[in-house]
Amino acid sequence: MQHSILNYIGNTPLVKLSKVTEGLEAEVWAKLEYFNPSGSLKDRIALRMIEDAEKAGILKPGMTIVEASTGNTATSLAFVGAVKGYKVVLYVPEGVTSEERIRICKSYGAEVVSVDIKDESVKEQHGVHGAIVELIPREVCLKKEQEDPNVWWARQFSNPSNALAHEETTGREIIQQTGGKLDVFVASIGTAGTLVGVARALDAHDPSIRVVAVEPKNSRTIKDGKPKVPIIEGLSGGLLLEVTEKKLADEIVAVSDEDAIAMTHRLAEEEGLFCGVSSGANVHVALQVAKKLGKGQRVVTILPDSRNRYMYVERYTT
Ligand SMILES: Cc1ncc(COP(=O)(O)O)c(C=O)c1O
Repeated sequence: MQHSILNYIGNTPLVKLSKVTEGLEAEVWAKLEYFNPSGSLKDRIALRMIEDAEKAGILKPGMTIVEASTGNTATSLAFVGAVKGYKVVLYVPEGVTSEERIRICKSYGAEVVSVDIKDESVKEQHGVHGAIVELIPREVCLKKEQEDPNVWWARQFSNPSNALAHEETTGREIIQQTGGKLDVFVASIGTAGTLVGVARALDAHDPSIRVVAVEPKNSRTIKDGKPKVPIIEGLSGGLLLEVTEKKLADEIVAVSDEDAIAMTHRLAEEEGLFCGVSSGANVHVALQVAKKLGKGQRVVTILPDSRNRYMYVERYTT
């Protein structure tokens, strides 16, 4: 029994995969982030970014929260903002975010503003939070924050509270749930908050645990160990740079839409896990990694969100 729905963020289940792993000696475990109240791992960072800003005195009652997001962060900020009584305005690139996702945010009472992306080729970069398609809405957030003292921009791509949320909750939960016994951690990169935070927690626990990053083949943010997106002070880079500069990932694997979608379907049909397409990508890679491991070794991965966000458009996005 809890006084607030916000107390049900985190502490998600960790489940052993049993069918898609047939023939493998090593174990693969999946952390079910769609158990978070608004349906994704971003509830953790929305809560942490908002509460850290409140503690720092830069977010006060009556202020408006803004963010540029094409996906789950938009929904999570709308959800946490609603519970805490903030107005939330989300700037999304026109024609990129699905109508379904926009309706979810509006259902939590948020305002959704479409930002015109003039360059059609930029729209193709739909896949990733760090991609060029989000830079124009981020410029709008920056301008709103500069012009109006009542506006606070969450800045998930560079806000330290993003990685901290995962370090202190997701990472610690994985260590606790596995009794500290795991060999490899696999996660998709969007802002890279999950990977950076969990990698820090695991490294402090046991530096021999390997970390594997996963990216959509169609819209990579990291290539040949360097960020592929332009790094613009205040608008891009952020946590992604921590991955490349500190070489946080031992390996970075690109996964196609086809492979990610095929595994997403198998997870629902064979394991009963109704997770989104990046979950399929993560498990696809986790199985490749597990193939090279022996009996008793353990791979842990993340299922970031729910399949019900991909009923009309199935695509590997982060
Ligand atoms: C569906 C999905 N998978 C994976 C990720 C990756 O998370 P992160 O931003 O922490 O790298 C995100 C968010 O970016 C996401 O929305």
